[in-house]
Amino acid sequence: RRVVVLISGSGSNLQALIDAQEHDALGGEIVAVISNQPNAYGLKRARDAGIDAVALPHREYDSRDAFDGALIKVIERHEPDLIVLAGFMRILTPRFVNRFLGRMLNIHPSLLPDYTGLRTHARALSDGVAVHGCSVHSVTEKLDGGPVALQAEVAVTEDDTEDSLQAKVQAREHLIYPIAVRWFLEGRLQLKGDTATIDGVAL
Ligand code: GRF
Repeated sequence: RRVVVLISGSGSNLQALIDAQEHDALGGEIVAVISNQPNAYGLKRARDAGIDAVALPHREYDSRDAFDGALIKVIERHEPDLIVLAGFMRILTPRFVNRFLGRMLNIHPSLLPDYTGLRTHARALSDGVAVHGCSVHSVTEKLDGGPVALQAEVAVTEDDTEDSLQAKVQAREHLIYPIAVRWFLEGRLQLKGDTATIDGVAL
């Protein structure tokens, strides 16, 4: 089973997926990593692991649609069974989302449906929530709104800052993302438009 990972930055989630793959725990192979930011550290992580690393700078395209068209071409060249968004900081066009509907996952740093969008940790802190976390979800046209496959919680403590909370949540991201990818590649997690099942149980 073939996986393409899209990133924009550090790629710590990508690293967790690479580590899982190296322990035969991913259920498939990462065949390419694509970044819209040519300097993303994650591209180096990919190269170090011997994975095809592709920079596709969105700035070189006139429109979101032109960029997404180029991205579709690069992705399809690698014939993936699954596309994994791992800190990919571009909003994708409906054309793109629908092309890969049912085989694209994202990880979001909140307990969805709470705190879609950006600065999730700062907003959770200022609301004084006791519990925060992260979610792996299917990507649909609704931003951060596709069915949630897997979540992990962290307790928010009084001394937490945006940075400390982010670090705690990211440690959980690195645990749950490889599990969700594996479940998908094994056919246990199935994504169908606006619904998802694990072992036949609707989520
Ligand atoms: C993660 O916190 C993820 O939840 C969000 O973007 C961040 C990416 O971090 N979507 P990294 O590039 O995987 O280190």
